[in-house]
Amino acid sequence: MLQFDDQAGIYDKRTGLGASVVKQIARSVADYCRSYDDGLLLEVGAGTGEIGYFLQDIPLPYLGMDVSQGMLHQFRQRYETPQDVPQLVHTDANQHWPLEDQSVSVVFSSRAMHQLQHDHVVNELKRVCRPDAILILGNVKRDPQAVKTVMRKEMHKLLNQHGLQEKSGQSHRKQLFSTLHAQGAMRQSPITAARWTVNNAPIESINSWKNVDGIAGLEVNEAFKHQLLDRLQQKCESLYNDLSQPVESEEKYELNAITLNFNQQH
Ligand SMILES: C[S@@+](CC[C@H](N)C(=O)[O-])C[C@H]1O[C@@H](n2cnc3c(N)ncnc32)[C@H](O)[C@@H]1O
Repeated sequence: MLQFDDQAGIYDKRTGLGASVVKQIARSVADYCRSYDDGLLLEVGAGTGEIGYFLQDIPLPYLGMDVSQGMLHQFRQRYETPQDVPQLVHTDANQHWPLEDQSVSVVFSSRAMHQLQHDHVVNELKRVCRPDAILILGNVKRDPQAVKTVMRKEMHKLLNQHGLQEKSGQSHRKQLFSTLHAQGAMRQSPITAARWTVNNAPIESINSWKNVDGIAGLEVNEAFKHQLLDRLQQKCESLYNDLSQPVESEEKYELNAITLNFNQQH
């Protein structure tokens, strides 16, 4: 995926969670994995391996899939020798998953599942998952008043005015989980794997959007994007006294898991 190929080299700096947070996330994923003693741990949209690197101590064979060569290159760069690199597969998860039927016990995906086509994911999960496999989705949650939440909401409104809809992780997860639930899967209570404080200035969101292809997960042309960002900046000047002034807020990383119960013998 071009958007991620282009930002792969700066992805961790721009959007990374930091070592302390990813270690806490990896510990929570490991807790989910404890009930399984065989089958793959599949990471969908493994990216630069910021989290995946710390999943390698889990005693299940790991396989990371990603559509971006650039992101996978960054993942491989974490290792000194090629023999240490875990199994990483360059593939579009909107196509056939290169995995055997009923071979996976744990599917983990962080900040990536909303990029995929819902029906296809459900079909592939049904095919590749073992009976009682678990799907774990991880996402960052922000305060409603946090600068990044407000900026995204305002961008969302602007996109809506042009008949476009931002790809939202939360609404996608709700839809995916309710489809899976209707087919017998069992939701588990969400877990907060890590919490931290951030200081963000509104202008940082605008600059960050300027520096990547597309906007809010959508592919749009540059001229249109700049027009949107100018309008966003005008709107935000009425909301904040100083767009360069950082505002403190809390963020957390939440894991939402669902036990799939597919392929059960009755
Ligand atoms: C926002 S990044 C998240 C990366 C990592 N999971 C994390 O939380 O740091 C989304 C990742 O999903 C990958 N991705 C997007 N669409 C994909 C697809 N169709 N198939 C496989 N991977 C995809 C991107 O290349 C990117 O690495």
